[in-house]
Parts: sequence; C-alpha cells; structure tokens
Amino acid sequence: MQVKEELEYLAKVKNMLAGKAQKYMILTMGCQLNENDSEKLCGMMEEMGYTKTENLEDANLVVFNTCCVRENAEDRLFGKLGEVKKQKEQNGTIIAIGGCMMQEPHIVEKLKKSYPFVDVIFGTHTLHHFPKDLYESIQKNGKIQDLLDIDGEIIEGLPIVRDHSIKASVTIMNGCNNFCTYCIVPYVRGRERSRKPEDILAEVKELAEKGYKEITLLGQNVNSYLRVERKQGLVSEEQEIHSFATLLRAINKIEGIERIRFVSPHPKDFTDDVIEAIRDCEKVCKLIHLPLQSGSSKVLKEMNRQYTKEQFLNLVKKMEEKIPNLTLSTDIIVGFPNETEEDFEDTLDVVRKVKFEQVYMFIYSRRVGTPADKMEGQIPEEIKHQRFDRLKKLVEEQIEEKNQKYVGTIQNVLIEGESKTNPEYLTGRTDSNKVVICPKQEGRIGKVIPLKIVSEHMWYLKGE
Ligand code: 5AD
Ligand code: SF4
Repeated sequence: MQVKEELEYLAKVKNMLAGKAQKYMILTMGCQLNENDSEKLCGMMEEMGYTKTENLEDANLVVFNTCCVRENAEDRLFGKLGEVKKQKEQNGTIIAIGGCMMQEPHIVEKLKKSYPFVDVIFGTHTLHHFPKDLYESIQKNGKIQDLLDIDGEIIEGLPIVRDHSIKASVTIMNGCNNFCTYCIVPYVRGRERSRKPEDILAEVKELAEKGYKEITLLGQNVNSYLRVERKQGLVSEEQEIHSFATLLRAINKIEGIERIRFVSPHPKDFTDDVIEAIRDCEKVCKLIHLPLQSGSSKVLKEMNRQYTKEQFLNLVKKMEEKIPNLTLSTDIIVGFPNETEEDFEDTLDVVRKVKFEQVYMFIYSRRVGTPADKMEGQIPEEIKHQRFDRLKKLVEEQIEEKNQKYVGTIQNVLIEGESKTNPEYLTGRTDSNKVVICPKQEGRIGKVIPLKIVSEHMWYLKGE
C-alpha cells in the first residue's frame, strides 16, 4: 500500500518548523528488521527537516525504536528514559517511542503511569503515521498514542536514510505465524504478509544503481515468503516469482549486486528448492543462518519448533552435501522451562556435531502473554547462567579452532570501509561473514578483494 496522505505530513512538519535548526537522535534496539524500520524513521525525520545528532543534549527530538524479544531491552529503555527526562525538563526535547515494545499493553500502561512525559507512542503497525503523530503532538502540545492491534499492511514508498553505503537491508516480509512458545514476535508484529516481488526487485535494482554491493533480505521467517499469498490464491506457481527460492534466483540476476544474504529462515520450511537456489546462485553467500534454539527433541516440541534434533541434523547433512563451502550460524536459547541437564547436553551435542561458524546465544527470558511464560518448571537464574557459560565456552573453543583454519587461506573479502578502531586499516567480510582487516589502500572500498589471511584474533582475522 502506498501512503500518500500520511506522507503529506512530512511537508506539514517541515513548514511548521521552518527556519529553526532541528536535530534528532534515534536509539534502536533489537534485530535487523528494527534497524531497517529505523532507517525509514531517519528518512522521514530528515525529510521533515531534522538533522541527525549522536548527542542527547543537542537533540530537539529523541526517538526510541524498541524491541521486546528479551527482558534486557526493556531495562535499557526505562534506564534511558530517566536520562532523557532531564533533557526534556531543561530543553523541551520531544520524546517519541515506537516499535515492538509498544505493542505490549502492560508496557504502555507502565509508560503512561511512570513516564507521563513521553510525547508520542506509536507501534509496529503505525510506523508510517509517525509524521502525522509528531505534527499533532507539536501543534497541540499534547500526548499522542497511536497504536493498532491489527495486522498492519505492507507500506511502500517511505523515505529512507541508510546506515551503510555498501550493504543494505531489504525487508521482504513482515510478521510470523509460527508461534514458538517462548516468542513474543507473533503478538507484536502480527500475521505473516509478504511484499510484492516487483516492489522488492525495484528496491534492489535501485540499490544496485546507487552502488550497493550486498543485500540482506529480512523477514521473521524468510523461507515462507509468499506462503500465505499462495494459499489465498493471490500468487500462483506460474508466476516467475512465487516463493523464496524463486525470489533468490531473480535477485541473483540483478547486475551490480555481488552478495545476497538473508535472515532468518526456519528449519522446518527449508525445502529442497531453497537449498538448490542457494547452491545455484553464485551471489548467495554460503553462510546460512539456521536457528536451532535447542538440541533436545523434547524441548523443541515444547517450543513448538516443529522439528526434532534428528531432523535438524539431517537437514544440515543434506545442505552440506548439496551446497559446496557451506557454513552455518545459529541461535540457541538456554534455560527454557523444564530443560534438564540431559536436554542441555543434547544442545551441546548438536553444537559439537555441526560446528557452527557463529552462535548467537540467549538466556531464556519470560515474555508476558506467551505460552512458555505460563509453563511450570521455570529454570532458576543461576542454572540458566551456568548453562549459558558452558555453551559459551564450547562455542569459543570451536570458533578459535575454526579461525585457525582460515590462517594461510585466500578469502574473498568485500571491503566495507575504514576500520573504526584503526584508520590505517580497511575492514570487510568474507562470504562466511567473518570480519577481516587489511592495510589501507586506495580504491578498494566496495570491491571484493582476495586476501591472504595472516593471523586470527577471535572476533576478526587479519589479511594482506
Ligand atoms: N528468550 C530468549 N531468547 C529468545 N529469542 C526469542 N525469544 C526469546 C526469549 N523469550 C531468541 C531466539 C530467536 C532470537 C532472535 O531471539 O533465539 O531466534
Ligand atoms: Fe519467534 Fe518462532 Fe516466529 Fe521466529 S519463527 S519470530 S522465534 S515465533
């Protein structure tokens, strides 16, 4: 859906602020989808005449784009709000909060009760109302709450200011229908809905023309792209793009793009056509993120993941057989309700067997409104932390071992820019997403360069 009327407020706010130098600060929590939403918020704010600042004292407008997947993001928001309150009292800073956490009624209640100085509250389905909400809040000098409890539509045509100039994220679908029992996402992001293939292709082509080299396709469950639309009869298999596999093949043909990544797929939907598309498309990176969550079939069942330990291992085996140079990364949750020592050993067992390139590890966090929050047998914090530390130790040992194997090899590295910590160096990434730094040379940024790996340093490699 195009949103002409809402976007008219971009100019209305700009006119209202005319002549006054206005600055905004944005704080983004959570996943890459949220980061992509923030790029759109930045796009809207800059069209309204705001310029970006990293300095709270200079900001006339502070926007929080929140996450609620785990508890620590909540603690962070409420901590930061304390700081911002002082700014508001001194300078009249406008405070707006959006994102996933605002879709949770108990959080909005808490905000209204304990943080009444917040000016604008908007949700995941009302991102495109932000200019209008801001306009009304400034004009009426009042509080605006703009939340919808429905499955938002796909919004096209929002302005965007991107964080990088070499790599870009492109959201291909929104929402989730899987209802893993620990996860709040289906409640705050609504049901699955996919962007139209032509809109995605147009965005990627535009990025290619602007010189972007790497595209990351985003969605809560990318490999069910167009699944709902196929079931509804809105898309048929006769169309060139009717699935995630066919989308990958089409994007692979776009000239100028050198690398394609995607997050996150669901193991249960990892069909053969997707595996074959990854194999056949030379631009699709062979590092695949495959969230395991737990290695215990019993825990996986309670999580409603719809695969067993054996099915996950078989899928990995099949992928390894079919895709040369495959590497894998994963997400793991420790301390899910009723996870026994034996269950946890199953998780360690899968990690030992698969030897992931990267493991994102999480301590189970109770989320209000999810089935797992109501389960008996919640695991004491101390045990959760002990298990987390044991998993971390294993993962770090494996990464060190893997890093050793890179030393002496030649890796194709997409150079992303200057190293932030050392201006004498450039930084980039391998196909397997490992950070590589190398001595600075002119004309290398945005190019894929073969580098010889000379040393490894846990979180990065050094190349020449
Ligand atoms: N507690 C801990 N980790 C969680 N994740 C999702 N929900 C929770 C939760 N309640 C993790 C999963 C998911 C990643 C994005 O966050 O591993 O893949
Ligand atoms: Fe959450 Fe599961 Fe959906 Fe991922 S697939 S967003 S973990 S419910």
